[in-house]
Amino acid sequence: MAERRHTVACMPGDGIGPEVVAEARKAVDAAAARFGFAIDWVDYDLGADRYLRTGEVLPDTVLKELGEADAILFGAIGRPDVPPGVLERGLLLKLRFELDLYINLRPVRLYPGVAPALAGKGPDDIDMLVIRENTEGPYVGAGGSAHRGTAAETATETSLNTRAGVERCIRYAAGRALEREGRLTMVHKTNVLTHSGDLWMRTAREVAEQTGVRLDYCHVDAACLYMVSDPGRFDVVVTDNLFGDILTDVGAAIAGGLGTAASANLNPGGRSGPGRALFEPVHGSAPDIAGTGRASPVAAVLSAGLMLDHLGERQAAAALEQAVMAVLPDAAGYSTQEIGSQIAVAVSREVPA
Ligand code: NAD
Ligand code: IPM
Ligand code: MN
Repeated sequence: MAERRHTVACMPGDGIGPEVVAEARKAVDAAAARFGFAIDWVDYDLGADRYLRTGEVLPDTVLKELGEADAILFGAIGRPDVPPGVLERGLLLKLRFELDLYINLRPVRLYPGVAPALAGKGPDDIDMLVIRENTEGPYVGAGGSAHRGTAAETATETSLNTRAGVERCIRYAAGRALEREGRLTMVHKTNVLTHSGDLWMRTAREVAEQTGVRLDYCHVDAACLYMVSDPGRFDVVVTDNLFGDILTDVGAAIAGGLGTAASANLNPGGRSGPGRALFEPVHGSAPDIAGTGRASPVAAVLSAGLMLDHLGERQAAAALEQAVMAVLPDAAGYSTQEIGSQIAVAVSREVPA
């Protein structure tokens, strides 16, 4: 029996979610066999099917179990036959909020050998960490509508920003920046969103002063431009929930596509303890390609690699990333399952001495 065991709640979800999670599991199981640990997978059928069958999105009992797992591996949710927001808010955002996963860590890295989307920009130019605040901003659901369907219809969506919430996010980002080049770029829209922008800016300056991190600032519209014109200027980026959502799809586009962009939702020692974490590709359920075998499993595999790192299985995490680096340059034209199998084989292989 393996000495080290980890309980992982597995939520494949909708669309391509189950297709890519199956391949991520193959890679993780291969790593477990090679490095001598065991994963106790606990399967959850949350998503569109369960919602349409039972009306349930995330029952409290399930939420409690998910919070007790060592980690959660998630695919994607959302399907055209379910109204927008039911699953996105009711499942994914509820998990981020209820488990207080206040960091959304999204590496943007172009791996060697992968065809660059930006002419003249290679792996040296595209290697950054985007740290997205994950429990506040316009995502909190503060707002409402009145006079729906009439000429007087009104809708509000308020961005919520707390000093504590902003500070813990920037502190985490500063810590990550100090492990790398020591510079941190804050992205916001302080020239228009003057209330929240002021809070973010003052907090970032204070954290920079206290930690010694070199602080840089960029408006989000310009940040989108620089992501494609001069990505090398970014190393660690910290930003608001919505800006981070948008910026990381741009990040995915410059670093091999959405099929390769990974993420970790973390609570680094906040009020609900260090264990809780959810790992998922940046992409969604991709209804346009679901069932075709064309989804890349790489984002899910790399997310599972971030999960192994979180579980303390550092060698296994590195092996997953190396396997992706070995397979990715020649992956074009292969199916989801074929790429997954190639990755699992590469994970199992001992690195030659
Ligand atoms: P999407 O990320 O699902 O797809 C955007 C585009 O990227 C599509 O053309 C899709 O085919 C492509 N793509 C995505 N993943 C890919 C992969 N692994 N390999 C190859 N191509 C891939 O975004 P969308 O179409 O805006 O949203 C579809 C549904 O997913 C919606 O219901 C949305 O709410 C939901 N969504 C869920 C999550 C999540 O669960 N984390 C994230 C984003 C969107
Ligand atoms: C993401 C997704 C989610 C977000 C949605 C599905 C709630 O787009 O993880 O990037 O906006 O955070
Ligand atoms: Mn998104």
